[in-house]
Amino acid sequence: MSYKACLFDLDGVLVDTAIYHFKAWRMLGENFGYQLTEEQNEQLKGVSRVESLNRILAWASFSATEEQKEIWLKEKNDNYLSLISGMNPTEILPGVVDFLSQIKADGYKIGLGSASKNAEIILEKTELMPWFDLIIDGNKVSKSKPDPEVFLKGAEGLGLLPHECIVFEDAQAGVEAAKSGGMKVIGIGEASVLKEADKVISNFVGINSADLLLF
Ligand code: BG6
Ligand code: MG
Repeated sequence: MSYKACLFDLDGVLVDTAIYHFKAWRMLGENFGYQLTEEQNEQLKGVSRVESLNRILAWASFSATEEQKEIWLKEKNDNYLSLISGMNPTEILPGVVDFLSQIKADGYKIGLGSASKNAEIILEKTELMPWFDLIIDGNKVSKSKPDPEVFLKGAEGLGLLPHECIVFEDAQAGVEAAKSGGMKVIGIGEASVLKEADKVISNFVGINSADLLLF
């Protein structure tokens, strides 16, 4: 199969922001006396901000009004923004820039499909923005992964059919989203976790544009 575009998730695929989300949620949890564990944080990967808060409140057995939730969503994001304020290109995951430069040179379109509403800020800080032909982020979708909306909008925005796109994802919810959108998906992480992915790689080190023809 020859593809025409690569669609990338952001957090955990291009940059490792999970630690900042984790810290920001832990800071927020102090409001209701709850300490999120690292295992729980794993289950929040790829999950939207509002859905993450709902899950944390459920784990904490804490019920909050919609008004309170709005305040906490803002507070979490303020915590997160201050934690990522110093982000720079050194935080791009290994092999990413080399892979982007190869696929660009070979004429593939490059799209972002992220749940994050902070995607553009992160792409600016890490200087990854110029690589992208299209950005679909949490501000442009109404349904969160595992719904395929973010990737379907990516394909459509690039003028392509789903089967012409290949998705790179680190989260189970994202792998499910790509599969249900009819796309090939390469998992970034562990095969035991990303069971539905067509192939799993640990990172982009040593991955070449030519590998796209083999996936
Ligand atoms: C995803 C992250 O990419 O974006 C999640 O994996 C995060 O952890 C989600 O909750 C939403 O991000 P943001 O930046 O809009 O709060
Ligand atoms: Mg991710």
